[in-house]
Amino acid sequence: MIVGSIKEELELEKRVSLTPETAKNIIGLGLKVCIEKNYAEHLGINDNEYKDIGVEVKATSNEVTNSSNLIIKVNCPSENQINSLKENTILIGMLNPSKNKGQIDKIINKNIKIFSLELLPRITRAQSMDVLSSQSNLAGYRAVVDCVAEFEKAVPMMMTAAGTVPAAKVLVIGAGVAGLQAVATAKRLGAIVSATDVRAASKEQVESLGGKFLTVEQTEDLETVGGYAKETSADYKKKQAEMMKEALKKNDVVICTALIPGKPAPRILTEDLVKLMKPGSIIYDLAAEQGGNSAFSQPGKINTVNGIKVIGVKNLMNRLPLTASSLYAKNLFSFIRNLYSKEKKDFNINLEDEIIEKSLIKEI
Ligand code: NAI
Repeated sequence: MIVGSIKEELELEKRVSLTPETAKNIIGLGLKVCIEKNYAEHLGINDNEYKDIGVEVKATSNEVTNSSNLIIKVNCPSENQINSLKENTILIGMLNPSKNKGQIDKIINKNIKIFSLELLPRITRAQSMDVLSSQSNLAGYRAVVDCVAEFEKAVPMMMTAAGTVPAAKVLVIGAGVAGLQAVATAKRLGAIVSATDVRAASKEQVESLGGKFLTVEQTEDLETVGGYAKETSADYKKKQAEMMKEALKKNDVVICTALIPGKPAPRILTEDLVKLMKPGSIIYDLAAEQGGNSAFSQPGKINTVNGIKVIGVKNLMNRLPLTASSLYAKNLFSFIRNLYSKEKKDFNINLEDEIIEKSLIKEI
């Protein structure tokens, strides 16, 4: 059985799905591995690093798809790549089925089994495969680093002979995986950090990282059985806006991470709320590509409003593609290890396994 990986569209995606480390692990399962020439050259990983551990390097992506039983990728394949995919093979990636319906349809019609790793259940056994967690965690970290670079003041409190510099205040909206990492990173840099979330469970997590939790009093349970957020009621939105009015006047940096699965991102910061911030403040909207938590946010743009920079984030993982690839490739390896049966020497699509059943795209 051969696992192959082909290049991503470099202008859009700098991550790769196979690192020399995970190639070695896959080979260790008893599988063969092949890649396309200059596969990760842009990340400073030479083909020889793959060759040295037994990976076959092929001249074209067509040669890879022609000889592989399983193709691993980061994003959905391009039209050309889809045409070259072989029938009755398997494709694994973060294929974003709701966005790439047309492409997925074509792939399914070629009798290819597609696993999209964003669909994995958030269960303990799937934690090592959880691409949303590995990538969101990095997003939370990188959000803080970017904000610090844009912010024109120092972040930690500094007592110097020339006077005292106050610590910057950072507010994190949404305390899921990305938000909690943002809280932890901002704390490490010396900021005074607060965070809010609709899920009551997140209060303890924020506090355990040294952040202050801003509670919106509520009677409704805003958490689904799966642990995700529900859409909030008009009453909750009103109370949240009241809480934000005070918080925004005090904070220097706001990092927005709030998402509701399958829905546009909740619009939490209206135009009026944004304008309450001090000039020089920053709003960093990690939800920009899903519609944005903040007014004035546009993916890939920095809009300045009354001296407040509203940063709409786009393709954030391209700012730390090596680390993101390393974790993503490890997630993929864990998934392949679960899918491959050493006894049968074949991939075993066992639909009784929740991990396999939930991540397999049956129809679109
Ligand atoms: P997400 O990316 O879907 O959303 C980010 C955060 O925004 C969430 O915490 C959500 O509650 C919050 N949010 C949504 N609407 C909001 C609003 N109007 N105002 C304020 N906050 C709002 O969530 P993520 O990071 O993927 O985590 C979802 C859940 O999954 C969490 O409970 C997390 O602990 C859990 N999880 C469980 C894992 C496991 O293996 N058991 C692994 C990873 C996450």
